[in-house]
Amino acid sequence: MSQPHPDSAVLEPRSTSEPRRVLGISGSLRRDSYNRLLLRAAAQVAPTTVGFVAWDGLKAVPPFDEDDEAAPPPPVVSLREAIAGVDALLIATPEYNASLPGQLKNALDWASRPYETSVLRGKVVAVIGASPSPSGAVRSQAEVRTVLAATGADVLDVELAIPRCFEQFDFEGLLAAPHRHTLRRILEQLAARARTGDTLLPVA
Ligand SMILES: Cc1cc2nc3c(=O)[nH]c(=O)nc-3n(C[C@H](O)[C@H](O)[C@H](O)COP(=O)(O)O)c2cc1C
Repeated sequence: MSQPHPDSAVLEPRSTSEPRRVLGISGSLRRDSYNRLLLRAAAQVAPTTVGFVAWDGLKAVPPFDEDDEAAPPPPVVSLREAIAGVDALLIATPEYNASLPGQLKNALDWASRPYETSVLRGKVVAVIGASPSPSGAVRSQAEVRTVLAATGADVLDVELAIPRCFEQFDFEGLLAAPHRHTLRRILEQLAARARTGDTLLPVA
């Protein structure tokens, strides 16, 4: 179950029948990013159990500075509030030099602090990714999961690694059907986990 952020009143008690709020974060800042397209696809395929919204504040988040973690700059406050205000996260990451993009790691570091009140602790998260390479950003996704696990997030054991991403979206940006199916199942998993702490059947 996700933990409300102590400094935030955004998570009101809700009935279990209400949709779970899922925040999408793209690790890519690129305007025409395939990972942004993946989040757009998530909004398109989201089941009725999910209220999906993508977050667009990553570029404004400054480099982490431990001196500022207790009184962080406004973009970091926005980041923490955005995470605190949802039941679950869906992170779509590219792979940079066999790892996760620095801007994503930086944001996760900010969100993980101060440790006692971290908005990531107990947060239900799924990690997906797209890359033009045949591997589909699997190494980056694995590293994001490692970082999230270190923060105490509740990382789902699901995967959507999209290889040759330039072939997986049509001219209108619509994601190929098999991946849409997997993405919808991941969103169902997120909602179920955020609702009950249980997982559904495997995504495949
Ligand atoms: C600095 C840099 C390093 C990259 N390293 C990798 C890599 O290790 N593996 C990979 O599959 N793609 C790599 N790429 C290619 C990215 O996967 C590609 O630019 C991708 O489209 C980025 O995702 P986006 O479309 O969401 O922006 C790299 C790109 C950049 C800019």
